[in-house]
Amino acid sequence: MDILVIGSGGREHAICWALSKSKRQPKLICAPGNAGIAELAECVDLKVEDISGIVKWAKEHKPNLVVIGPEIPLCLGLADELIKEGFQVFGPTKDGAQLEGSKDFTKKLLLDNDIPTAKSGTFNDFEKALAYVRTQGAPIVIKADGLAAGKGVTVCENIQQAESALEEAMKKKVFGDAGAKVVIEEFLEGEEASILAFVDGETVVPMVSAQDHKRIFDGDKGPNTGGMGAYSPAPVVTDKLNEEIMRKIFVPTLEALKKMGIVYKGVLYLGLMITKDAPKVIEYNCRFGDPETQVVLPRLKTDFVNVCMAVAQGKLSHLKIEWDEQPTACVVMASEGYPGSYPKGKVITGLMEAQMKKNALVFHSGTVLKDRQVVTAGGRVLCVTGLGSNIKEALQNAYAAVGVIRFEGAQFRKDIGWRALKS
Ligand code: AMP
Ligand code: GLY
Repeated sequence: MDILVIGSGGREHAICWALSKSKRQPKLICAPGNAGIAELAECVDLKVEDISGIVKWAKEHKPNLVVIGPEIPLCLGLADELIKEGFQVFGPTKDGAQLEGSKDFTKKLLLDNDIPTAKSGTFNDFEKALAYVRTQGAPIVIKADGLAAGKGVTVCENIQQAESALEEAMKKKVFGDAGAKVVIEEFLEGEEASILAFVDGETVVPMVSAQDHKRIFDGDKGPNTGGMGAYSPAPVVTDKLNEEIMRKIFVPTLEALKKMGIVYKGVLYLGLMITKDAPKVIEYNCRFGDPETQVVLPRLKTDFVNVCMAVAQGKLSHLKIEWDEQPTACVVMASEGYPGSYPKGKVITGLMEAQMKKNALVFHSGTVLKDRQVVTAGGRVLCVTGLGSNIKEALQNAYAAVGVIRFEGAQFRKDIGWRALKS
């Protein structure tokens, strides 16, 4: 069978890797892919935003399944167009993708259905937003309504910070149209965790928990990034909490979507704050997380092609999904300057040696092949996953592989998993 995967990051490399292990021995095609993915899949030079180009390619080549990685094509309606043409698709349609594409849509859904989340207000008007911030006081959280490449959220420690965040979003338009509307949220205190779930329109099956590190520097300091490392499981997510999350969050969310006539198929990514009262929703994403995927999929024991097919065909309830007990942890190696501007084209060495290491997997995030050499091509460049009998060992294995990889200006966090190691 032929499977088309859309995307070019570490998440898509992990997706291709998991698909490639299937007993069904699929032929993988990835658009556009990267240098690591090219070892597992035929890469096709199509941009993820090129909806009509991808649909045209699919009509010509007739893949048996399309797995959509990133949020942008999902929010642009790629799944809708492919389903219209009769393809099996892993990834929600545009209406479902609003869970990530509009914070206001999600906030309304949560409040209307009594799903626990932070208190908030939504504003189109700068003066009204400012007045709300002043009455609520700090700390407070300002969120651009639309997609902002993971940078649209500002956690403000004081009112001045909140005022400038509002100005940046609403007046200076640093997030473009995505920040014309803002959601202003109560600051929640607690520990964060992510739970991703497979959803087939009718059934929700949570995956093993994970936790990523969003900040660029050790000690969770500095600006937010797409994620600098992750580990699975997140010890904070106990069995009791899992049950509560299923009952109070996942099930009512799916029911709410169904009531709206939305058939949600794909991954529902729940970002949680475990406050002292209850787990509360911080965000939903309509896709796998990056780098969470690189720690979650290596723990999946069930054939991933079967899982994707069951999701696309609404047959998840027929499938038993099993996970490896063995924990995983990953470390992201990024370009100098990331999450700000960064150079490209730096030669990467040591990849073979890292790949040969026991209990380590090297996923490519931003790489390309140039003159037969793998060179950097993104902010996040590689994501190295370690497996072990506990998180400490998984981290040691990840860092041992990171230690043999070199490229000029490489930066990575040295303290991934510090919270998990404490508990
Ligand atoms: P998001 O892009 O929605 O994942 O938000 C980015 C980060 O901002 C989250 O991972 C949290 O660390 C933080 N954050 C978002 N909303 C809140 C909130 N209501 N209270 C505290 N921190 C938050
Ligand atoms: N690692 C966070 C995300 O994928 O949204």
